[in-house]
Amino acid sequence: MQDISAVQAFLACPTPDAWIGWALSHEHLLLVDHAHCEKKAASTALNLMFRYVDRPELLDALSQLAREELLHFEQVLGLLRKRGLPYIHLSPSRYASSLRSHMRSSEPERLVDVLIIGAFIEARSCERFAALAPHVDEELGRYYRFLLKSESRHFEDYLRLAQLYAEADIQPRVAEFADIEAQLITAADSEFRFHSGVPATA
Ligand SMILES: [Fe+2]
Ligand SMILES: [Fe+2]
Repeated sequence: MQDISAVQAFLACPTPDAWIGWALSHEHLLLVDHAHCEKKAASTALNLMFRYVDRPELLDALSQLAREELLHFEQVLGLLRKRGLPYIHLSPSRYASSLRSHMRSSEPERLVDVLIIGAFIEARSCERFAALAPHVDEELGRYYRFLLKSESRHFEDYLRLAQLYAEADIQPRVAEFADIEAQLITAADSEFRFHSGVPATA
């Protein structure tokens, strides 16, 4: 299995066991929200490419990333179809919007924050695929392990771009987001989603 120790070290807490149990009893929602997340990841990357046309390193990295996310989207849709599960509309979890509510508004701080948030979303997704892989059926486990390589690279790309465009060391800002992110992951949540916290009833 792909070594994701850098991803795990970046995150301030591992995925709680209560979330794993919640995911295993919601396979349909897990797959549907996963498909939405892949599509959203591509759309976020494309939005950044429209907003920051003067940043060549960003354009190169995020164009490739967007293509990979859309490919993942198609693969998850394929898994849903194969299992006879419909792809349905879902409201997004509070996770990404809560992280983005802490974004600074002036530039380049806004861009640096968006990129750091991108690194956290990629890192958490990667960590969750690795955490789920041993517990799901063989086909899904194989697919989650396959995703670790690209998602850990996406995490590195976002982090590298954040440091590239920042005027100072991003570490203090990364530490602030690590705390915010860990709170979202460990707090009680009312609805199951790929990036939700733990079940409110647990
Ligand atoms: Fe992906
Ligand atoms: Fe990704």
